[in-house]
Amino acid sequence: MKEIVEKDNETITEVESPLKKVEKKAVVKKGSDKMTIEDLPGVGSATAEKLKEVGYDDLMSIAVASPSELTESSGMGDNVAKRIIQVARKNLDIGFESGEELLKKRALVTRVSTNSENFNELLGGGIETGSITECYGAYGSGKTALAHQLVCSTQTELGDDPTLDPIVVWIDTEGTLRPERVEQISKAMGLDPMRSLKNIRAVRAFNSDHQMLLAEKVEDLIKKDGLNVKLVIVDSLMSHFRSEFIGRGTLADRQQKLNKHMHVLLKLSQNHNIAVYITNQVMSKPDTFFGDPTVAIGGHIVAHASTTRVYLRRGKKGSRVAKLVDSPCLPDGECMFFVTDAGIRDDA
Ligand SMILES: Nc1ncnc2c1ncn2[C@@H]1O[C@H](COP(=O)(O)OP(=O)(O)O)[C@@H](O)[C@H]1O
Ligand SMILES: [Mg+2]
Repeated sequence: MKEIVEKDNETITEVESPLKKVEKKAVVKKGSDKMTIEDLPGVGSATAEKLKEVGYDDLMSIAVASPSELTESSGMGDNVAKRIIQVARKNLDIGFESGEELLKKRALVTRVSTNSENFNELLGGGIETGSITECYGAYGSGKTALAHQLVCSTQTELGDDPTLDPIVVWIDTEGTLRPERVEQISKAMGLDPMRSLKNIRAVRAFNSDHQMLLAEKVEDLIKKDGLNVKLVIVDSLMSHFRSEFIGRGTLADRQQKLNKHMHVLLKLSQNHNIAVYITNQVMSKPDTFFGDPTVAIGGHIVAHASTTRVYLRRGKKGSRVAKLVDSPCLPDGECMFFVTDAGIRDDA
């Protein structure tokens, strides 16, 4: 925490630059209809650069952020954060959409099946395109097994032209992608294993910077190579971040990077109607007296960016239990599933 406080002080000095002048600037720009983050009060070019670096590159992203997110990810002071959020909100062209338009957009959302009826029901049909789904849980809880399943599930509706096949991008940070599992599950589902494998674009991320870069490069696969990317997997999200940033002093830096990474993934999902599946590790919350103390790591930057959060754990008799922890439109609930040779199933 100490570092965050120190950073706060640093930023406050910048903020205390003549406020009046800055406010005036904000007003002037208001008329020219497109306000940018540089126009926010107290945001000099250095702070603007920093904000952009961590993923806040337009007024909307600031307007919808919470003060703690901004302080956590950019190191600015709490008061400044509150103030710029206020101004961003005031000046934002919200772009209200009619419910009808929204419904049309929602109609484009499809689901990637988990292959378990129970699990699909819990998720409203499978994992959703256009947003991020996060599964967190202890080692061996089935996170990577689900990733292998999802790869195969995207391959169930193939047309005659293989160049239009759904593509899965797998950013592998732990080296746990197993082509033979894709082969095995594909066979069990009556799919062509070789075609499933051909439709994977796998890449091993060697550190957190590399991981961030890879996420940014997915857009090239779509725009330059014209691939029909349907699913992006990051397995696991935090392993590099966790091991590279050790100790409280480095937490602010970590959160900044993480925020940028999450924003890249979120935009990718929204702009191209892609299902993003991320896996996450857990820790035990020390101040829990009742119930399961297990929580996902990554703080509320990860929590906020993940639209749907699922907690996986081992259940009785080799089963796995999925608990829906956070979803915009589904009730919380639990279900049981099994990891089998044939993929994710309702029964062993
Ligand atoms: N072919 C299989 N059949 C049955 N169980 C399997 C199979 N492959 C993996 N598993 C089970 O799944 C577990 C690994 O799950 P995994 O998804 O890799 O966990 P993690 O949550 O750590 O990613 C193993 O402990 C094993 O029990
Ligand atoms: Mg795993």
